[in-house]
Amino acid sequence: MNKEPGVEDAPLHRLYRHFSELPYSLRVMYTATLLILGTAYLFAGIYLFHSYSGKDGNPNTLSYEDIVIAYSGSGKGSRLEGALRGSMSAMLPRDELNSLVSWVQEGSERARYEKQIKPMFDGRCMACHDGSNPHLPNLNGYDNVRKVTERDTGTALFTLVRVSHIHFFGLTFVFFILGSIFSHAYVRPVWFKCTVIGSPFVAVTLDIGSWYFTKLYHPFAWAVMIGGGLMGLSFTYMWVVSMYQMWFSRAPSVVVDRRSGETTDVG
Ligand code: HEC
Repeated sequence: MNKEPGVEDAPLHRLYRHFSELPYSLRVMYTATLLILGTAYLFAGIYLFHSYSGKDGNPNTLSYEDIVIAYSGSGKGSRLEGALRGSMSAMLPRDELNSLVSWVQEGSERARYEKQIKPMFDGRCMACHDGSNPHLPNLNGYDNVRKVTERDTGTALFTLVRVSHIHFFGLTFVFFILGSIFSHAYVRPVWFKCTVIGSPFVAVTLDIGSWYFTKLYHPFAWAVMIGGGLMGLSFTYMWVVSMYQMWFSRAPSVVVDRRSGETTDVG
């Protein structure tokens, strides 16, 4: 007896194949792919957390402030100012420190650098910052010093362009592969399954687009976080459901019925 098909149990599509109907070779390949993709996603998460969570001074959480600072800058002083007020403050006497800071705040001009500032760098800083140690900023000469006197305005626009194209290509491949595997899962209602497959593509666009908009208007940092969260959620859902239905659950009865030819409404 067939009951009226509602949204909850829409008939199987003619081309739909459940995991249980796939050859073992394909299931092994899908499983291996899921395992590697899952590992990659985990590493991406660790890297993301490590590089962004400390921006606001608290390295234990990834917050709204972290995202704002990463993309639009802290708006605070330059790296040189920060160092002079912090870890480098003991390297020079107070009056020299003050004239260095005022030079930076007044726009770090070349003329004053040559006359008044260079001798201070030469006397106080060159012992360590002459460029011979690749881990310390090179403070030898005006052009090198300029690199640490710029205000912190967040990730440079061109860096964002570079990272964007890598993410667009990479994540499209990832979610195409994951979505193709997940398409063999039995999930109802059908609109929900389609939403799960489509949402990461919307999320990627939202996430990457909002990097740029955060530079202009800080609250877009929320969109960056929502985009990333939605992507993670759909990734996890598709991964878990695919693995579970591939190896641990029994084939749904509609699929079993179709195989034994008991159902007529196979549409
Ligand atoms: C005795 C060696 C030494 C001298 C002299 C020295 N520095 Fe440093 N500097 C370091 C080391 C080591 C670091 C990296 C660790 C740190 O930030 O404390 C560093 C880091 C820095 C940084 C980078 C901070 C950051 O935000 O990454 C700046 C800028 C800097 N120093 C400026 C100066 C200036 C200006 C002087 C001279 C007034 C100076 N340093 C003198 C050893 C030195």
